[in-house]
Amino acid sequence: MYLEILSYTQNKAQRLQDLENIFFSNAQASIENEPERKSLFNKYAKPYIEHWPDDVFFACDLNTNKTMGYLIGCRDSLKAEPILSPLLGSYDLFADQFEKFPAHLHMNTHPEFHSQGVGTFLVQEYIIELKKSGCKGVHIVTAPGLRNVAFYTKNKFTHTINRDYKTHKLLFMGRSL
Ligand SMILES: CC(C)(COP(=O)(O)OP(=O)(O)OC[C@H]1O[C@@H](n2cnc3c(N)ncnc32)[C@H](O)[C@@H]1OP(=O)(O)O)[C@@H](O)C(=O)NCCC(=O)NCCS
Repeated sequence: MYLEILSYTQNKAQRLQDLENIFFSNAQASIENEPERKSLFNKYAKPYIEHWPDDVFFACDLNTNKTMGYLIGCRDSLKAEPILSPLLGSYDLFADQFEKFPAHLHMNTHPEFHSQGVGTFLVQEYIIELKKSGCKGVHIVTAPGLRNVAFYTKNKFTHTINRDYKTHKLLFMGRSL
């Protein structure tokens, strides 16, 4: 397995197409119509690709060059507020934690490669980059009870906070660096 970063890849168009395919291969099956799909992608992926291409990572298969998974991130969640908050209603719910855990990420691995260490590889590589730039902490926001909670716990996102957002519950998971 090896890592490619969007800013430096020779294969930009192909990798971005793979990112979109992996994004939807894990999204809820109920998303059928095109506008709804577009809106989901425009919220959770597009701004990161446009604004922070150095933080778009691809895990690729050494032998086949296939994209196994991706991670997209933002190193300064507070600074990104004007971009992300209008897109995502819940963005500010954990804003009081952004100083301690400034970076955040979203990631997906291809279903064919789940539970083979691809996700852990991506998180570890991103954390190396974050530490190099002096970042003090990283967080994700998920929902209690989801399967990915075990994944992030295993990857030491152990500072957890539960809060209500509208009708559902959200879970903040932070890791100090
Ligand atoms: C969560 C996810 C990124 C982990 O990547 P991965 O390559 O499977 O991770 P690793 O192989 O390093 O770690 C495996 C652990 O991830 C978790 N996991 C595995 N498949 C999963 C899935 N379909 N959904 C959520 N978590 C999963 C389990 O805790 C697993 O541990 P186990 O193998 O002991 O059961 C990946 O499974 C995925 O893309 N899931 C669906 C989308 C998602 O939940 N993304 C995160 C949004 S915040």
